[in-house]
Amino acid sequence: MTDKKDTNNDELKLVDVDNQPRRSTQWYGKLDKDGFIHRSWMKNQGLPDHSFDGRPIIGICNSWSELTPCNSHLRELAEYVKRGVWEAGGVPLEFPVMSLGETQMKPTAMLFRNLMSMDVEESIRAYGLDGVVLLGGCDKTTPAQLMGACSVDLPTIVVSSGPMLNGKYRGKDIGSGTDVWKFSEAVRGGHMSLDEFMRAESGMSRSRGTCMTMGTASTMACLTEALGMSLPENGTLPAVDARRQALSHLTGMRIVEMVKEQLKPSDILTKAAFENAIRANAAIGGSTNAVVHLLAIAGRVGIDLTLDDWDRIGAEVPCLVDLMPSGKYLMEDFHYAGGFPALTQRLKSTFDWSTKTVGGITFGEANEGAECFNDDVIRTLDNPLRDKAGIAVLRGNLSPQGAIIKPSAATPKLLQHTGKAVVFENIEDYKERIDSPDLDIDADSIMVLKGCGPKGYPGMPEVGNMALPSKLLEQGITDMVRISDARMSGTAFGTVVLHVAPESTIGGPLALVKNGDEITLDVEARSLHLHISDEEMATRKAQWQPEESEYHRGYAKLYIDSVLQADQGADLDFLVGKSSSKVNRESH
Ligand code: FES
Repeated sequence: MTDKKDTNNDELKLVDVDNQPRRSTQWYGKLDKDGFIHRSWMKNQGLPDHSFDGRPIIGICNSWSELTPCNSHLRELAEYVKRGVWEAGGVPLEFPVMSLGETQMKPTAMLFRNLMSMDVEESIRAYGLDGVVLLGGCDKTTPAQLMGACSVDLPTIVVSSGPMLNGKYRGKDIGSGTDVWKFSEAVRGGHMSLDEFMRAESGMSRSRGTCMTMGTASTMACLTEALGMSLPENGTLPAVDARRQALSHLTGMRIVEMVKEQLKPSDILTKAAFENAIRANAAIGGSTNAVVHLLAIAGRVGIDLTLDDWDRIGAEVPCLVDLMPSGKYLMEDFHYAGGFPALTQRLKSTFDWSTKTVGGITFGEANEGAECFNDDVIRTLDNPLRDKAGIAVLRGNLSPQGAIIKPSAATPKLLQHTGKAVVFENIEDYKERIDSPDLDIDADSIMVLKGCGPKGYPGMPEVGNMALPSKLLEQGITDMVRISDARMSGTAFGTVVLHVAPESTIGGPLALVKNGDEITLDVEARSLHLHISDEEMATRKAQWQPEESEYHRGYAKLYIDSVLQADQGADLDFLVGKSSSKVNRESH
């Protein structure tokens, strides 16, 4: 790197490694009316002249919001990033973007993931930034930020919110989400009082941070580390651990160097990096939601990642991390056991060590020598939590474009199962009839839910892990095969077939299933089969009528008109790919 200042009457030209003028000089380096405007208004924040002498301008893209409780501490964390940026000779400028509170938004935060990605992308491109630190952490904020940043492709690095401290109730650890599902079913089955249920609330979420199970937030934070888009340990450090503040400081320092090196997401996010993330997802017992998110991120960088890659690359990888919902520990335990770097050392022959990371070193170098301090939490290869723990992709006449299941969270004996369909036409139908004493259902039935795909709900909500009927819970039944075009929470568990594509709302075969039809799930054979003839399928298809959408304006209409199916990452069709960081015209 040879920084050199070449002053003339038009521009200050600090240059990067390719001898190109730094991007921000197009805003702050001009010695004319435009430069005056860009600099002068920024100076009302007390920035001295030398802030604009060509040093790297670093955007801190912050999804802080009190409506996203998992991200509510990110203003504070941003201050530590700023310290690092200043120390390394850059200028940090924090800006807000849309935030997606998973537990607060209706009809589902997923409806807005692509909208947030547009906010992130356009904010980064429109401002005079040289590099970006993404601060986020709830389920959809991480993928939305990465998707948006990848479509601009400036040097980028992620700092995640970090998980909450372990939940506690009556002296025991309880996990975000996972124990809500368990408690809720215990109440419905008559095994837990409502009073106890209400008291568990405060103990579950008792510090700042994201869900501390291996739900989607923790999964995406760990996969960000696996992709090489964060510094080591970002995936697991608890939100309130002072070392996360130090990591933020170091990240601030590092992004300044990345700008000088012009190390961009497109240099890091290669196919091999995505393959590492898929392997990591299996090894941590990660969320099924990672499938749509990684597919969407890959689409933005132009990497040809497919649903079948998930099965091909990840299916044989064992799950070594014993965390809820697949196991029993929580994120604090994972971090104290050595975190993600320690896990990589257990799977040395599994990962590609040569991929690049934001640290400017390889994935192998970033994780070299990491030690494990607790073999119960990060199991050894000869004592895995589950063998072959990756996502399985199911195809057949019920899911021609694919469906997925997480075998590690399922009941082994149900992984090969034939049963009669009990069909719910939509979520309202399900809620109305699930606890009816007249519902014709038994433990061998297969519950089928329609109308919950990307276009149908809209937004593909986390309702695929439908709760079982009370009358079966009372009999002690804890799991049944469930099939839908929905997603499920990363904190959930069960023999749940998800993301069926094409979805029922656009006439996919799921729309044609009737009560009493026989369905066979065979995970070993990767098959999902509806036992009706091709002729019968064609007849039903000919009789099928789409329902009229009730969304006629605004973002929901844009989303429904443009969203891709789950097997393509459920991005909006016109957002796939990138547009670079170029802006051709001045604002005045
Ligand atoms: Fe935000 Fe779980 S709800 S991380």
